[in-house]
Amino acid sequence: MKKRYIEWDLPLADISNDSAKEKNIRKGHPSALHIWWARRPLASSRATILSSLIDLPGNENDKREISNILKKITSWDIVNKDNNYYLNRAKKLIEEQWENHPPRILDPFAGGGSIPIEAARLGCDTYSSDYNPVAVLLQMVILEWAQKFGFNIPNPKKKIGIDGEVEKINFLSYMVEKWTNRIFNDVEKEIGSFFKNKNENSIPIGYIWARTIQCQNPNCRAEIPLIRQFWLAKKNKIAYKPVFQGELKTNQEKKVNFEITKDVKNFNPEEGTVSRGNVKCLFCDQILKVKQVRKLGQIGKMDERMIAVVNYDFINNRKTFEIASEMDKELFKNSEELLFSKLDKWDGIESLLPDEEIVNLKGRMNVFIYGITKWEQLFNSRQKLILITIIEKIKEKYSEIIEDCSKIGNFEDKKDLNDAASAIVGCISLVLSRIPDTNSKGCHWDGSWEKTCTTFARQALPMNWDYIESNIFGIKGYTWKNILNNILSIINNSNFDNQSTHVIKSSATSLPYENDFFDAVFTDPPYYDNIPYANLSDFFYVWLKRAIGNYYPDLFSTPLTPKKNEIVYLSHLCDDYQDRTKEFFETELSKSFIEIHRVLKPEGISVIVYAHKTTEGWETMLNSLINSGLVVTASWPIHTELKSRLIASGSAALASSIYMVCRKTDREKVGFYSEIKPLIRERIEDKLQQFWKEGIAGGDFFISAIGPGMEIFSKYERVEKLSGEPVTTSELLEYIRTVSTNFIVDKLLKDSSSTKIDNESEFYLAYRWTYLDNEVEYDDARKLASASGVDLEKMWGTGGFIRKTGSKIFVLGPKERGSIDKPKNMIDVMHKALLLWEKGEKDKLSQLLSETGYSQDPAFKQFCQAIAESLLNGNKEKQLLEGFLIGIDLYTRSKPTTPKDQTDLKQFGGS
Ligand SMILES: C[S@@+](CC[C@H](N)C(=O)[O-])C[C@H]1O[C@@H](n2cnc3c(N)ncnc32)[C@H](O)[C@@H]1O
Ligand SMILES: [Zn+2]
Repeated sequence: MKKRYIEWDLPLADISNDSAKEKNIRKGHPSALHIWWARRPLASSRATILSSLIDLPGNENDKREISNILKKITSWDIVNKDNNYYLNRAKKLIEEQWENHPPRILDPFAGGGSIPIEAARLGCDTYSSDYNPVAVLLQMVILEWAQKFGFNIPNPKKKIGIDGEVEKINFLSYMVEKWTNRIFNDVEKEIGSFFKNKNENSIPIGYIWARTIQCQNPNCRAEIPLIRQFWLAKKNKIAYKPVFQGELKTNQEKKVNFEITKDVKNFNPEEGTVSRGNVKCLFCDQILKVKQVRKLGQIGKMDERMIAVVNYDFINNRKTFEIASEMDKELFKNSEELLFSKLDKWDGIESLLPDEEIVNLKGRMNVFIYGITKWEQLFNSRQKLILITIIEKIKEKYSEIIEDCSKIGNFEDKKDLNDAASAIVGCISLVLSRIPDTNSKGCHWDGSWEKTCTTFARQALPMNWDYIESNIFGIKGYTWKNILNNILSIINNSNFDNQSTHVIKSSATSLPYENDFFDAVFTDPPYYDNIPYANLSDFFYVWLKRAIGNYYPDLFSTPLTPKKNEIVYLSHLCDDYQDRTKEFFETELSKSFIEIHRVLKPEGISVIVYAHKTTEGWETMLNSLINSGLVVTASWPIHTELKSRLIASGSAALASSIYMVCRKTDREKVGFYSEIKPLIRERIEDKLQQFWKEGIAGGDFFISAIGPGMEIFSKYERVEKLSGEPVTTSELLEYIRTVSTNFIVDKLLKDSSSTKIDNESEFYLAYRWTYLDNEVEYDDARKLASASGVDLEKMWGTGGFIRKTGSKIFVLGPKERGSIDKPKNMIDVMHKALLLWEKGEKDKLSQLLSETGYSQDPAFKQFCQAIAESLLNGNKEKQLLEGFLIGIDLYTRSKPTTPKDQTDLKQFGGS
């Protein structure tokens, strides 16, 4: 079988760079169509698809050309331009190799569609599916409808020019624009007047609300507004501030008032009334514990109150802020009355508002523990009114849309006509569906950036105390017009004249295709327990179902998104999901990999992307992969985060995803571990050299060694130990960890001095490089320790550098340890030396280094340097080390005495 380019090389740095940059692009980018969690970057999808579909040429010039094209086609700017030379060249290369038919490719876990859209852009015959109906709808927009209905028509709004030419426009985007405008103009006519400002030159951007509870101090009982912080515009020092009548913090109503202030000298706007869920009363200062606050929410004793208004002054083009007036409150009340009357009149079978239940997933759906247990409770009355009015108008307009389609689209076939009308309504439903994300009680006003933060800043629904209600009819912020314009530019950008796109709703565990059907499968399966897609997407599903369920019965037949076959590990988060265990994840993922193996042609290729922080998350995925019979032939770590962001957050989070290239080749029946181990080591070390040069670091480094290890391991159906027992993936991962840890330590210590470092200190170095100064799960720290021959359990407790809290391990720096009486290893000496250096106790420092034998030992200095290099700027230990290292030669110059305890130190490493 001929090698494909991806099985030889990839320009990792360029792909990673463009993949990371893409995260900041919104306008016209398909990811801005709608939220879908953990989308793959288009850049890495495009590059991996191209390099998987073309053979590795024999000649060096051709190889260079491919590498160059790969580097050039990853940037969004270039792809976004019409008629780009490199993109055309990429398509041509694929056409030349696949001269009889375009390659037929599949993504069975396609989510928001990043992978298939790139396959379609490159001219492939593209099949995609997902189990989740919301994901399928998103794929339909960009993959099916943008292609099928994105044909050109003469612009109906323009007359024929003198030259006889008529401007051509995209049918789908023209119709979506026209009908969204009609629908939303009708909505605005009906309810837009509920948003206005008494100043005619201003229009509200949004209203800031705070939830409220009553103080539980029996002598107080004041209303407490729950507020994280009081900033409105931090750069301009504008905040809102509680005011009290008179000296005493009391007034008759026991209800605090607010004023807008620029005087933040005697008032700290950062200090809200809620901190970590505990609430402080503004009147009596009593603290209500988080548990009490939750209880009040659960028994319906949490209310809310409009506090301030963010306006846009369109004469002076600036934001202004004011305390909510009686008129603002009155307008809200009026909108609420209209909502109630609509609810009274409603006689549909399905409730008008989404009263479906939210499932309480621990740590992911925290709203639940505050009594928010139904989806509709995430919206205030005016927000609900907007959504149901849009839904009402979409339904009203459907027959007119069909009529208009037949006039403008000239459809000969009745089915095509109906499909076109449904596609238009489907696209309009996304304008609707973006609204809950930008206008729910989960959105908050960010005073630092002066903008609204949307509901899904994270892959969760945390409790939000003070929220902003957007004016979708305004001119700034998340207005329906801005949302529409963005969707239109995505529809226009996604037309590649490729009619060979096929989107279906299907579980990847049972695909409706015959054997050996696909030339390639590119996919990004769920990552273990990372994202509860089905549960999160219910937030959108409940509205979409009410709006377009009639037109898409196959997608919206169930009360909530289907969950039964979703591949995810959730049993640790919810009692209702006791069947969704780790084993369930592994079995179902196995089934889907077996399906990939089945539908792939014998000479086909598959690229499977995976990312997970924990070894456990990897173990299950690798078991599934091995079960399927797919053989890994190459693997590439691709950064998807900007390095600066990781550094800024000081996070040890993974920045890379691993792209594993797999083939359907026959495997050898049995391999012997003793023979395979040296091959695994050799392959890993070889690849790690490359990854080290590419700047892969931290937790990503070990993860990036997994693929090369699998390249050897997966060649066998079974790998046996001498005892005849099979080698488990857990044992394989342990070995990979040892190889990668040794590699790191050798690299960091630059020369052969690693042999002089004791095991504990080696572990300390590997930990700092991998996890910086972050806490990690016990299990991962234990595995890292055992790679250095250290038994972690023996290490916490008295005087050591390990602290265990719950299931987490924290490796202490010198300041956290305090005094160290009897240093037992190199790390103890280093910590003690740093503390002495900080206090300026130079003699004691010289004495310590001399007594321990380190004053003349280059390994010690090298070790200190390696730790300093591993830590990030701003870290205290790094600062101490840098200072200490500047003068280290001064403290180590004195001739060492022969101390009596030096022999003890030699046992653990001192030479
Ligand atoms: C990591 S995401 C894919 C993201 C996608 N590559 C993108 O860029 O948007 C994994 C997807 O698998 C889907 N999924 C989970 N279980 C599934 C199953 N049994 N069959 C098909 N899809 C499933 C989820 O709904 C989710 O969209
Ligand atoms: Zn009180």
